[in-house]
Amino acid sequence: MCGIIARVGSGDAVQELLTGLENLEYRGYDSAGIAVKNGDGPTVVKRQGQISQLRDVLDEDLPAGAVGIGHTRWSTHGPPTDENAHPHTDEHGRVAVVHNGIIENYNELRAGLQERGHEFTSDTDTEVIPHLVEEYLDEGHSPESAFRETVRKLSGSYAIAMLVAEEDAIYATRRGSPLVLGLKEGKYFLASDVPAFLDFTDDVVYLDDGDVVVVDADGHAITDLAGNPVDRSVQTVDWNPEDAGKSGYEHYMLKEINEQPTALRQTLRGRADPLTGEITLEDFPPGTFADVESVQFVACGTSYHAALAGANVLTERGVPAQAFIASEYATAPAPLTGETLVVAVTQSGETADTLAALRRATAAGARTVAVTNVVGSTAARECDDALFIRAGPEIGVAATKTFSSQVVTLSLLCKRIAQDVTGDSNGDVRQLLEALSELPGDLQQVLDESTAREVAEEYAGSDAYFFIGRGSAYPVVLEGALKFKEISYEHAEGFAAGELKHGPLALVTPETTVFAVFTGRNDEKTLSNVKEVQARGAPVVAVAADADANDEIAEFADAVLSIPDTHHPGVAGVLANVQLQLVAYHAANLLGRPIDKPRNLAKSVTVE
Ligand code: F6R
Repeated sequence: MCGIIARVGSGDAVQELLTGLENLEYRGYDSAGIAVKNGDGPTVVKRQGQISQLRDVLDEDLPAGAVGIGHTRWSTHGPPTDENAHPHTDEHGRVAVVHNGIIENYNELRAGLQERGHEFTSDTDTEVIPHLVEEYLDEGHSPESAFRETVRKLSGSYAIAMLVAEEDAIYATRRGSPLVLGLKEGKYFLASDVPAFLDFTDDVVYLDDGDVVVVDADGHAITDLAGNPVDRSVQTVDWNPEDAGKSGYEHYMLKEINEQPTALRQTLRGRADPLTGEITLEDFPPGTFADVESVQFVACGTSYHAALAGANVLTERGVPAQAFIASEYATAPAPLTGETLVVAVTQSGETADTLAALRRATAAGARTVAVTNVVGSTAARECDDALFIRAGPEIGVAATKTFSSQVVTLSLLCKRIAQDVTGDSNGDVRQLLEALSELPGDLQQVLDESTAREVAEEYAGSDAYFFIGRGSAYPVVLEGALKFKEISYEHAEGFAAGELKHGPLALVTPETTVFAVFTGRNDEKTLSNVKEVQARGAPVVAVAADADANDEIAEFADAVLSIPDTHHPGVAGVLANVQLQLVAYHAANLLGRPIDKPRNLAKSVTVE
């Protein structure tokens, strides 16, 4: 977790560092700080709390300098206090460091430094870094050499940027945590993620583990730890700065919910032709998966729900497939062979649990594919192949548009796998592609006509919110409940509709609002389950297609959230999920929750 930014070049660094930190706030928001060089040495300003609090302090006493580093924190070692906020320095304030990741051997390094007389002011693992650099500087090493020697001593995961009194330069490296370089005519940025500097440049170098970068106003050099030059190409990203801003919406989450028609058009662009029934997936032409015997998906949270939807598509077509919670898979991997395809589903491409599962699968000899939103992410680079969901940057901690884009991307990928494995070249592909071609428009209709806000108002104050569905609706109800609980802090659970009577029904009272999702398949059985909860007095909100025509559902439901009739249960699930996203959003908004930054959570979870 945590976000880092560094900037060097003409003009003053502070405002650009703050903009970068605000764009990275989704990576952590319990404390923030900057260090800039203004002649004498780094000036450090850091505060517990959100970046707005740091801004207030800086407004009173603004340091100046053209070179600087910044950090927004999500605590892993020590509580969120001013002392534990980054940047961290050595005792003499000569070296300032920001770090994302975990230094696993910090106890040992700290004990050694303490024996040699160093005093520490924070509980963090990071603070050992500036102290080690200081020792090497005292021994006569140049700042670059001191940085390299220090990095050699670290184990764990890290992206680090360092500022020293001696030079107007930034020293940076990564191992296991993301770091990208942005370039713009005489100005350089280093950051955990591209949106940090998208306001200033869209030319990007994705750095690899082990790369060491030195940037000053005259240029940049990328080498390995031993100092050998490495060649990294400059890529231009096609995200624009407004994509990373709120564009007039009260919350990123609402903006991102509303961006879904556009995001899905991008996801589908050039990939699905309903007229010919052909799927075109960049690096995955027909036959790519001919050797595959079974598929295992690994993912966390919302991405796990998308993975469940992918597994459903495959099992329906007779291809053995299973979705695993990545942290469980990393603990006890499922048996696999060289013919097992392991698909890591991860929006960020940086989720530590998913990467750990992936590495277990790679070590066991599996072929791997990443389905991710982030080009250049660790998952994309560590897998044999990557398929990008093209949803654009997602800033709200609660994943919304990336879920829809994941489900759609996976539906195409899984059809391709099924065609290759079963040899059945068409199957029901045309029906899927027809429904997908209508999906952006159908989704716009849901956004325009949704009564989710009224539903949220009507059922506010329930003791609990249950979400039930079967088949393709099952991942949707799990996702609906996750979204509801994470941003409203209300008790919400998703259940396979048929499972309710095996235990959870005991919890159902007239104060339990039940959302029942109907996707056009197995609807009658789900309706029986609705009747069971209604018999216990629970209000029921149905999410269903064309509810007016579906008299029985309308008759039993207390309220209906309507979706266009897609004639495809998987695609109907995407639309139903958008209704549930809106319900969660409005319920949380009514309760005054900090929707984009739910308590205890962060967007990119880079610890196991
Ligand atoms: C919930 C949410 C999380 C993520 C999970 C995995 O709204 O966003 O559950 O889905 O942390 O993240 P990625 O997809 O980046 O691997």
